Amino acid sequence: MRKNIVAGNWKMNTTVPEGVELAKAVVAASAQVPAEVELVIGTPFTHLYPVNEVVKGTRVALSAENCADHAKGAYTGEISVDMLTSVGCQYTILGHSERRQYYGETDEKLVEKIKLALAAGLKVIFCIGENLEEREAEKHFAVCEAQTVNVLKNFTAEDMKNIVIAYEPVWAIGTGKTATADQAEEIHAFVRKVLADMFGAQVADDTTILYGGSCKPSNAKELFAKPDIDGGLIGGAALKAEDFIGIALAF
Ligand code: PGA
Repeated sequence: MRKNIVAGNWKMNTTVPEGVELAKAVVAASAQVPAEVELVIGTPFTHLYPVNEVVKGTRVALSAENCADHAKGAYTGEISVDMLTSVGCQYTILGHSERRQYYGETDEKLVEKIKLALAAGLKVIFCIGENLEEREAEKHFAVCEAQTVNVLKNFTAEDMKNIVIAYEPVWAIGTGKTATADQAEEIHAFVRKVLADMFGAQVADDTTILYGGSCKPSNAKELFAKPDIDGGLIGGAALKAEDFIGIALAF
């Protein structure tokens, strides 16, 4: 049976002291959330070590927001998967639309990154989602299918145990414009069908598919009530412990 997960993506926000305080507030409030909901916080690289000091031994898991597409060596400014696990990371977000759009993250690079992450024992939150132009041209199903298939065809059913998918329509990220629960459910159910065709019904049924894009306490309940929406990847609302936990309480 698949897990429900609420994962924060802090993006490039908070200083280290602010991030440590935020993590402490999330841990303090986490007891309110039913034990079967997994809580994850994704922080900038600089925050991982001190935030891990706060979350280790608690129910809150730690995620990076990216990793390098090489294992080690002369790649100035990059952060390897072994560096991530060495500071207590359990997850990494990969393929976020901001990385695809601003940092030239291609499907090929994502395959390399996911391979390295899984080999290092990290779980991956793999993001997909169409932009506004694609939605208006009614290409959202085709775009989500292509993003899913092009990358995940390189992985096995066994690998899928450690891959979570996040559907994040680009037009809903940070815009305050949430996909309706029906719009989100439609894509989630579709992606699950794509997974069933690729890996079989069991894998499709066991894969957690998160929704992301202006998710907040006020709309989380309606989104999470949908049968194929298994939680959220939360940007802006993850920067306030109360809102982040408020979203997790929507289950
Ligand atoms: P948002 O971001 O919740 O601020 O829209 C979501 C995301 O990009 O992961």
